[in-house]
Parts: sequence; structure tokens; C-alpha cells
Amino acid sequence: MTEIIDGNAVAGDIRDELTDAIETLADAGARPGLATVLMGDDPASQTYVNMKQRDCEEVGIESHHVDVDGDADPEVLYDAIEELNDDPAIHGYIVQAPVPDHVDYREVIRRVDPLKDVDGFHPENVGRLVAGEARFRPCTPHGVQKLLEAADVATEGADVTIVGRSNIVGKPLANLLLQKADDGNATVTVCHSRTEDLATKTRTADVVVAAAGVPEFIDGSMIGEDAVVIDVGVNRVDAETEKGYELVGDVEFESAKETASAITPVPGGVGPMTRAMLLYNTVKAASLQEDVAVELP
Ligand code: GUN
Repeated sequence: MTEIIDGNAVAGDIRDELTDAIETLADAGARPGLATVLMGDDPASQTYVNMKQRDCEEVGIESHHVDVDGDADPEVLYDAIEELNDDPAIHGYIVQAPVPDHVDYREVIRRVDPLKDVDGFHPENVGRLVAGEARFRPCTPHGVQKLLEAADVATEGADVTIVGRSNIVGKPLANLLLQKADDGNATVTVCHSRTEDLATKTRTADVVVAAAGVPEFIDGSMIGEDAVVIDVGVNRVDAETEKGYELVGDVEFESAKETASAITPVPGGVGPMTRAMLLYNTVKAASLQEDVAVELP
């Protein structure tokens, strides 16, 4: 039987474990605070930001939100960032991507205080991660590691093929899985749009991580017998549902399930883990800034 890896359950356990750390911080007068910044009105981004705020309420993190008009000058966004950097009640914040085309996201990230960069996107934090001294692991890659651990999938010595080389998922995940660590020690192949003979590289992998951003790009014929499949994709495709769309992953679930030994569903796989690891990073940020030791899951 193929195991369906339940991201909601694993994320729920992590949230429960974080609650103790949050109360320790609150008792020390330092309740963690997370802010989300949204420039523009992209509907998917609005949904993500709302979910992140709801997550905070559930675990006792103070949540704050800043809306920036989609047509505003980048300076308006930079001013909002400066205020968050200076606000002691905000231990971490994220600027939801994508930002409008007239804003350079790399410049946005450079302005975020690296100690409050709970996305782990700032060049200082990227450098630390690559050097094996991560301060904040980016939320989705960290969530993938936690899911593999919860599903008893050892990465040590495993051949892992990652499809997608984004700064948010593919590149940091490749670096994390390469680290000399219990949740690393893998042999990692990173595939992308110019990769030749992709199917051979996925079919020979023990673990396939699909993070290409293309709906149902990986099908069962590209998955080896008994491989583990982690689907990072969240794609809205038109459908005759109430909302007019449905969510599908980067993996064709039904065919991949036939050959895989374990697979994450969409929704309910990696998505809830990304959100849980944002809470984790916020708690870690508060602990570092307030110099209050806490135990993290
Ligand atoms: N957009 C899609 N994923 C992410 C993420 O992990 N962080 C931010 N800030 N924006 C995103």
C-alpha cells in the first residue's frame, strides 16, 4: 500500500510542540510577533497571508499585517520594511512574493533585517545556510525535511532528485539535503528547464521532490518503483467548482501513487508544513532577539 504522507497531521504536531516555546517567551514578556506584508492584491497571495495570520492566532503568536498598494512606488514598501525592522514587537516578517513587476524582489530582501528574515531569503541567511550554519531554514525546504523525517524516510545516502531550481525551494533544499547532518547526507541532483532526459533522473531517484511550478508535470512513468514523492507544487487550474478553480500539484497524483511507496497529496502535503515552519522561524527569531532559550521541535 502506498503511504499518503499527511502534512496536516505533521504540521499539527509541530504547532503543538511550538505552543510550549511560545508560552515560555510570553511568560518572559516576549510574546513572538509576526508580520506579513502584501503589495498588490494577488488573490492567491491574499489567501496565503490570511492563512498565516490564522495560524498565528491558533498558537499564540501576535500577528500584524501591512498592505501596500500594488501601484505604489517601491519606496513606500521600503518605508514599511524600515518600520518593521525598527519595531521591537515584530520578531519576524515576510514580504509575500510575487511583488508587482516594477519592484525588484532582490532589493526588497536586502532591506529586511537578517535577524527578522523568517523566510530565510536574505543573502546573509542564504550564505549561512550554504556554509552549514543556518539561522532560518527557508520554510518550504525545512517543511520537506520534517515531512521526510516524520515518514521515516532516511536521506543519508539516498539519491534525491529535485525538479526545480528556485531560490525559495530547489536551491535551498538541495543545500540542506547535502549537509553533513542526520536530515542531510543525500546525493542530490537538481533538474530544471534545460535538463536533458529528465525522466531518467527522476526514475532512478529514491526520493523525487517536484518543485517546478507546472501542473502535473511529473507522472507515474517518471517515478521509480517504491520511490518517495514529495509534491511542492500548488497550482490553481480552472475547474467547475464553486471557486472556479481547483488546486493541483506538480505531480500527477493518481499515476505516481501506483509506483511510489509514499507520496504527499495536494492540498494537505507540503503546504501546511510551509506554514508551520514559518511559525517555527518566528519563535526562533523571538528567542534569539529576546535572549530567551526555548526548545524547538
Ligand atoms: N510566495 C510563495 N512562497 C513564498 C514564501 O515562502 N515566502 C514568501 N515571502 N513569499 C512566497
